[in-house]
Amino acid sequence: MTDVQAILSRDAACIDSWLSTHFDRCEAMATAPHLLKAMRYSALNGGKRLRGSLVLSAARMAEQISIKTEACSSPVAVAASVELMHSYSLIHDDLPAMDDAELRRGAAANHITFGEATAILAGDALQTEAFAILSAPDLSECTSKQLKLIHLLSHASGFQGMAGGQMLDLLAVEQRFTMANVRQMQDMKTGALIHAAAVMGVVAGGGAFALEQAAGRYADALGFAFQIADDLLDCESDPSLLGKPSGRDAEQGKASAVTLLGLAEARKMAVDLIAEACDFLRPFGDAAHEMIALALFAIDRDH
Ligand code: IPE
Ligand code: IPE
Ligand code: MG
Ligand code: MG
Ligand code: MG
Repeated sequence: MTDVQAILSRDAACIDSWLSTHFDRCEAMATAPHLLKAMRYSALNGGKRLRGSLVLSAARMAEQISIKTEACSSPVAVAASVELMHSYSLIHDDLPAMDDAELRRGAAANHITFGEATAILAGDALQTEAFAILSAPDLSECTSKQLKLIHLLSHASGFQGMAGGQMLDLLAVEQRFTMANVRQMQDMKTGALIHAAAVMGVVAGGGAFALEQAAGRYADALGFAFQIADDLLDCESDPSLLGKPSGRDAEQGKASAVTLLGLAEARKMAVDLIAEACDFLRPFGDAAHEMIALALFAIDRDH
């Protein structure tokens, strides 16, 4: 039995320590230290690091089974870049103009602590820092690999991915959404970055294209299930456990699998999606055991 908490806490410690050193270096060069303070506040504040762990687990899977190209010198830097992109998305998601949430990861949201203007800039700068990390000369000897990583992350975060999905999420309040609309919104706002994390991990680990494809399909099912679990937690849990407000989706009238199907059916859908996700990686046997454990965790978590 794989201990998923052990995987997550080991990977989180690794990513956090890498990011802490990185921010120390950035702070030493900063002419606007207040911005760096706001960036560090949201990047190093106890996230689960599921996306980062997906990068690292996919890289380890690739290293075990299908080395086709040389691995990146630092898969943890790749994982950190994805987590910075995610942190930026959360800062902006919490802004009064979006979800208007005052609590994040058990602490005051970035804009509550630093003000809206600084929070917007901290999000912007975290996003560009993700690309600075991926394009750094020491990440890999292969610039085309770096270009591929940058392409995957930018595609997942922009108008066809997270930002586009967030736009649909705002519209979900005013329009009648079908299940197909909900799936598209969740695939973009949440699934795209999870997809990028898994595929970037395979790329960082030097995996073959067939493994990239399998990891991508796995992550597509996982991404939707992960957001369903988030929406279930919003209905069923409380802020002290979640570390963020609960009940807001209903208050704000957000369409989701939960509002369309009800709690029980939505939960069943998430379970089925995770089974589907795991099936894509079964052919890779024991090398996929961490990825499978992370998928099961995605829907069996309390925050
Ligand atoms: C929350 O993501 C935002 C969603 C896309 C649902 P996580 O639940 O992974 O948040 P952290 O990083 O652990 O705080
Ligand atoms: C967030 O979805 C998706 C993002 C791209 C940030 P939610 O708005 O449901 O995430 P939480 O519940 O605030 O973490
Ligand atoms: Mg939101
Ligand atoms: Mg939100
Ligand atoms: Mg939510």
